[in-house]
Amino acid sequence: MKKAPELQNIRGVKIYPPNHKRVQKLLTGDNEPEIHGDKVWFSSYFIMDFLDANPPEPKTRILDVGCGWGALSIYCVKKFLAKVTGVDADKHVFPLLELHATLNNVNVGKKVSKYEDLKPEFLAKQDIIVGGDICFWDELVDPLHTLIKNALAAGVERIIIADPGRPPFMRLARRCRRLHKAKIKSVKVTTPRKHEGYLLIIDNPG
Ligand SMILES: C[S@@+](CC[C@H](N)C(=O)[O-])C[C@H]1O[C@@H](n2cnc3c(N)ncnc32)[C@H](O)[C@@H]1O
Repeated sequence: MKKAPELQNIRGVKIYPPNHKRVQKLLTGDNEPEIHGDKVWFSSYFIMDFLDANPPEPKTRILDVGCGWGALSIYCVKKFLAKVTGVDADKHVFPLLELHATLNNVNVGKKVSKYEDLKPEFLAKQDIIVGGDICFWDELVDPLHTLIKNALAAGVERIIIADPGRPPFMRLARRCRRLHKAKIKSVKVTTPRKHEGYLLIIDNPG
């Protein structure tokens, strides 16, 4: 009999390997994620490391935008006892998020929305916004900047976005440094593999 593929363990979050039959069922046919939410992307690990060094208090309300499979959301619940909502424009990622939330025995809220459509009243209920690998097309720069401006106006304390350094992300990062005194930090991780990239950190001046 063929051996079932082994679970991955990423910083304490259990992840099904892409060839696992439960994942394959959710990655094919009409269920297939349509905007790159087809795996866990490594920029989330930069944010996990940053949060380890700057841990949020228990019950901090965290919004994981462009959450995909939700590895970062699950990490925040497990590690920091945060109250996390995963937001994604693609409804097809949520069965994968739920599969992993169940595997890890945690609850993550779910919301289908584009970045720029998140309402001020909803943003006002969040403390921190995170997003790994979410600014990969030129046309995502303005929507993400709209989200950042709305979130700052709504009182969100901190926004952390990570990326390998693609040109659209760097454009957003430079714009936020100029307009919102954001910090751009070069970062690297060695586990589960070596990767380099950037964190964009925007703190609300209050
Ligand atoms: C490259 S994946 C990253 C997923 C996840 N953050 C990770 O690190 O594994 C980008 C995610 O952003 C979502 N996305 C793309 N454009 C979006 C938009 N305009 N509003 C909200 N989510 C969007 C995609 O559906 C996808 O799940």
